[in-house]
Amino acid sequence: MQTINRLEDLRKAVDALKIRGKTVAFVPTMGALHEGHLTLVRQAHRHADHVVASIFVNPRQFGPNEDLDAYPRRLAADAALLDAEGVAVLWAPTVDQMYPEGYATNISVSGLGDVACGAARPGHFDGVATVVCKLFNQVRPDYALFGEKDWQQLAIIRRMARDLDLTQPQVANIIGVETVREASGLAMSSRNQYLTGEERAQAAGLSAAMRRAIAAIQGGADVAQSLATLNADILSAGFTSVDYADLRDAATLEAIETFTGQSARLLVAARIGAARLIDNMGVGLK
Ligand code: PAF
Repeated sequence: MQTINRLEDLRKAVDALKIRGKTVAFVPTMGALHEGHLTLVRQAHRHADHVVASIFVNPRQFGPNEDLDAYPRRLAADAALLDAEGVAVLWAPTVDQMYPEGYATNISVSGLGDVACGAARPGHFDGVATVVCKLFNQVRPDYALFGEKDWQQLAIIRRMARDLDLTQPQVANIIGVETVREASGLAMSSRNQYLTGEERAQAAGLSAAMRRAIAAIQGGADVAQSLATLNADILSAGFTSVDYADLRDAATLEAIETFTGQSARLLVAARIGAARLIDNMGVGLK
């Protein structure tokens, strides 16, 4: 695996991978890799001849009081994991490379970026959309893979790619990959490492509470009542607060007040210990 941190070297390396019509699938990450990321890489191999991954802890998607400085950085260990998974190129730009002196452009996907995590983390999704657009233009992959764990992020990236024509010959296809969970049901996340052993056990209560709420909603229970019960269940599992627990349209992220079998997603963000955890699950007719 080649680890590259200059754009001109990346362009040459990707051009070399793409000779004779070979395809490239791209897995963007912020590092601190876990099984969820490695699943994205394994899926990427199924879609294309070569896999390119990136590691870049993107300052623009962290708010002033968020964990940018504390965010785990371990490039060497992450590179070894990606190498073992057959990644051809690791793109690991510096902050100065990504945002040189005088950098002034922002991408904002309005509507989808303003609700749920967007309301609690102003500017977060602008930072995500901006860096993902840049990464697409830098790598120019045929496919890009994102975890469904960040459902809102995936919906925003899909909309941005459509709106800005980031389709062929840039990113032909954006592929969402199902959330990888621990045996307890806890969705894998780089932020789980902020949890103590006890908090980790309590955090498993989130997915269990979500499954109960989904069963209720699918069984015809009132949506607002089911969400209120979910809120209370998350708190009694040991979370200190719930940022949101919403039922939303899976693509537009508009709030759903009455469930009639439309393609819906239950989205939750809640705080426990030093961590703010997010999770989401599909809701459909049984
Ligand atoms: O999901 C992430 O790890 C990040 O938001 C992404 C897509 C790599 C952009 O920085």
